[in-house]
Amino acid sequence: MDLPGTTGITIVPTGASLGADIVGVDLSQPIDAATFTAIEDAWHQHLVLRFRSQQLDDPGLLRFARRFGELDKAPIHAKGEVEDPFPEITVMSNIKIDGKPTGNLGNYEAEWHTDMSYNELTPIGSVLYALEVPPAGGDTGFSNMYQAYASLPADLKRALVGLQCKHDSSRNSAGELRKGFKEVTDPREAPGAIHPLIRTHPATHRNALFFGRRRNACIIGLPPNASEDLLDKLWAHATQKRFAWYQQWKVGDLVMWDNRCAMHRRDAFDPNSRRLMHRTQIKGDKPRFDPATLAA
Ligand code: OGA
Ligand code: MN
Repeated sequence: MDLPGTTGITIVPTGASLGADIVGVDLSQPIDAATFTAIEDAWHQHLVLRFRSQQLDDPGLLRFARRFGELDKAPIHAKGEVEDPFPEITVMSNIKIDGKPTGNLGNYEAEWHTDMSYNELTPIGSVLYALEVPPAGGDTGFSNMYQAYASLPADLKRALVGLQCKHDSSRNSAGELRKGFKEVTDPREAPGAIHPLIRTHPATHRNALFFGRRRNACIIGLPPNASEDLLDKLWAHATQKRFAWYQQWKVGDLVMWDNRCAMHRRDAFDPNSRRLMHRTQIKGDKPRFDPATLAA
């Protein structure tokens, strides 16, 4: 969609189930209100936005992200020695200096997840900016949880109304135990927030399946076997290729996603190559389900 004369930006959808490029904006410069509104509308429509060939320093990244709301502090890291450059910036990197990690997630695969959904207030979105990328691997996948919900059989949709899920906070998306957390064997004993399985997006009023991580998740009030079976079934459904799009990174790419209606994952990559990303997160709200959305 071209919006000449109003904002000068062009929105180019990926053609997959989510994601669009925003072309024609330099994020290091002030963004006027009309352009910002067009970007925010595109974000609500496409769930994931990519801005290529940007040249941002950390204050520039924070300035752009703050247009969408207050920012979160970085989460607790698995590796205690990692230091973030700003309280609101998390370094995602496999680079080691003197054998010590300088960032999070290393070079491993990160499984499908929603960022920091183990908190009561969950970030509405994450903004990830590529400073160094490996020649191959390390792609980031995104998946459309509105479509995952909408395509469930009607009886299963009905069965999910009112169900709540515990989101384990003890491990990160690469499966590493966070510093200061104990190993969990029974998901019912996992620390973490409880949220509705169906989440109504406050801006679009559309319903999405809302998951954090599969590991140690459990549905409140169901016997453990029934909880595992239902979660396995829903995760198998939600992680199908047809709901996904993969970002292949170039230096200068800024990608922002909506954590209320999209999950993401990352492919592993060669540990001998370097990958460096700076991430910031837009402060969240309490996930809610609005029963009025089901009225015909
Ligand atoms: C994240 C994340 C994946 C990536 O920043 O929350 O999961 O591709 N990153 O680095
Ligand atoms: Mn993540």
